[in-house]
Amino acid sequence: MKRYKALLAGSLLAIGCMTALVASINEKKEEQGLINTVPKIDRWETRNEEYKKVYPRQYDSWKQTKNSDDIEDLLKKYPELVVLYAGYGFAKDYNSPRGHFYAVEEIRNTLRTGAPKDTKTGPMPSACWTCKSPDVPRIMNEQGDLEYFTGKFSKYGTEIVNPLGCVDCHNPETMELSVNRQYLDNGLKAAGETSLADAKHQDMRSLVCAQCHVEYYFDKQENPKGGKAAVVTLPWSEGTSVEDMEKYYDNIDFKDWTHKVSKTPMLKAQHPGWEMWKTGAHGKNNVSCADCHMPYKSEGGIKYTDHNIGNPLDNMEYSCMNCHRTSEESLLSNINEKKKRKDELHKKNMKQIAAAHLEAGKAWEVGATKEEMAPILKDIRHAQWRWDYAVASHAAFFHAPEETLRILGSALEKAGNARIKLAKILAKYEVSDYKAPKIYSKEQAQEITGLPFDKLIEDKKRFKGTLLMEWKKHDPEYMKTIEDKTSYD
Ligand code: HEC
Ligand code: HEC
Ligand code: HEC
Ligand code: HEC
Repeated sequence: MKRYKALLAGSLLAIGCMTALVASINEKKEEQGLINTVPKIDRWETRNEEYKKVYPRQYDSWKQTKNSDDIEDLLKKYPELVVLYAGYGFAKDYNSPRGHFYAVEEIRNTLRTGAPKDTKTGPMPSACWTCKSPDVPRIMNEQGDLEYFTGKFSKYGTEIVNPLGCVDCHNPETMELSVNRQYLDNGLKAAGETSLADAKHQDMRSLVCAQCHVEYYFDKQENPKGGKAAVVTLPWSEGTSVEDMEKYYDNIDFKDWTHKVSKTPMLKAQHPGWEMWKTGAHGKNNVSCADCHMPYKSEGGIKYTDHNIGNPLDNMEYSCMNCHRTSEESLLSNINEKKKRKDELHKKNMKQIAAAHLEAGKAWEVGATKEEMAPILKDIRHAQWRWDYAVASHAAFFHAPEETLRILGSALEKAGNARIKLAKILAKYEVSDYKAPKIYSKEQAQEITGLPFDKLIEDKKRFKGTLLMEWKKHDPEYMKTIEDKTSYD
């Protein structure tokens, strides 16, 4: 109790300090004449470099997100993923995130977006651009949301060229924080959460991130002007917990794809970062995403918000130590323990769920019926959704440690249930000695699941040598300095 009080006192002190800091920033802004005479920048100016002259510190620190350029091939690290996502894009190419600077580069390069030949060929819909660029809200404003969501990814190759930047989070006319994607407000209202009209400034410091770091799916709609739209929709009307969203998807019989081996109607969790953050100690105390990922810094006596959004642990002095009184070492060792606990259940889940898919594949092969398989496929669907939800919402093990373990525990239970039922079926069809193959490499897993990896790469290279060259003519100058890095060559 004493320690709790000390921490609470510390937190209050820190929040006090933060308030003072914000006040002092506002004074500085007044001194610089930034508050009353905001220089005129067009409402939909999406070229980030146009902001450099007026907001040099914010621009320069934003540009530093370029330094986070490591590509970690998650399929190589965890080859079970190739089995888990069999029949879906993520089995082709799946990397850990890089800095915001790379958002446009990544979506063009990934094998998931395939090799379009012109503005009408797929495979992916235009919705895939939604979280990558300030050109997206600009186009939504010009053409309307439905038109933006209609057609293929390649429709906007020459239009969407500026990587995630100022207009993604601001209204340039005032430089106030601004959510420029309507679907978030729709989601908040459906969930009964504070909508944008009532959001406080501190809420906005997380809501700007929630435009992208959330769970979503593509709702198929007809465009009366012609064509089919895939509209980004947040599945929140039952609530924002993992069970609420599972219920939502079950109620509308939604599936992202049918699993290639087990034939399960699958859900792919995106990255419900905001939803998970809300359930953790920081979210509950409304410590915002920006509090940790965009701390205040000072340069020549001028305080500003650090726009180099990355890992706050590279920056603990500014990000954590504002509020915490323990040493950096003890915080770090606490975080490492959380990560280990998560990893243990994470790995067990991948093994169990991959085995369940393969055993289900075997059960179909030996003649199991649809009726026999239905309850098993439901367990597999729910197990994988929950596991994916907990690990795809980036760093949830830190943002919401208890919730992460709870979800991973329930996923493991569902996978176990599926395998018990499968053992009975396999026995019934006299293959009780069947053992699912052990997964030991990305290549082996791709072979088992019949993924034509070399062909995908060949097609992608053709796209990069032809259509992409046309798109790149529209790129801002600084994009030309990007080194062409991928996980596949
Ligand atoms: C991912 C969201 C995000 C992006 C992208 C972004 N900002 Fe910000 N920006 C913020 C947040 C959060 C704050 C803090 C606002 C507050 O609490 O008042 C901020 C604050 C600011 C401020 C107010 C002064 C300060 O430093 O606190 C300026 C000016 C600014 N940003 C300029 C820019 C410019 C220029 C770009 C593009 C190069 C940009 N921002 C891109 C989220 C973003
Ligand atoms: C317009 C969509 C969008 C918004 C708004 C957005 N992000 Fe992101 N974020 C992304 C995408 C896309 C990536 C992955 C980029 C890549 O790998 O190319 C990413 C990656 C990240 C990463 C990983 C960076 C790294 O170096 O590994 C962090 C951390 C992050 N975002 C935090 C935030 C925070 C905090 C906010 C709000 C202040 C925010 N994001 C707002 C889309 C967005
Ligand atoms: C209390 C501080 C804190 C708050 C609040 C916070 N984060 Fe984080 N975030 C972290 C830390 C620390 C990490 C890195 C953990 C690790 O992997 O070591 C991280 C990592 C991330 C990553 C990157 C994970 C990766 O795989 O590279 C993303 C994306 C992210 N946070 C988004 C958000 C969003 C969105 C919010 C708000 C909804 C948020 N964070 C709120 C501290 C915070
Ligand atoms: C704006 C203030 C603030 C910032 C910044 C902040 N924290 Fe916290 N932190 C809190 C509060 C408030 C609590 C909750 C205290 C409670 O409930 O007793 C907390 C709780 C924690 C806990 C214990 C709860 C849990 O989830 O296990 C850890 C660990 C922690 N913070 C680590 C960090 C790290 C690491 C950073 C920097 C990346 C950070 N915090 C940044 C205010 C902050």
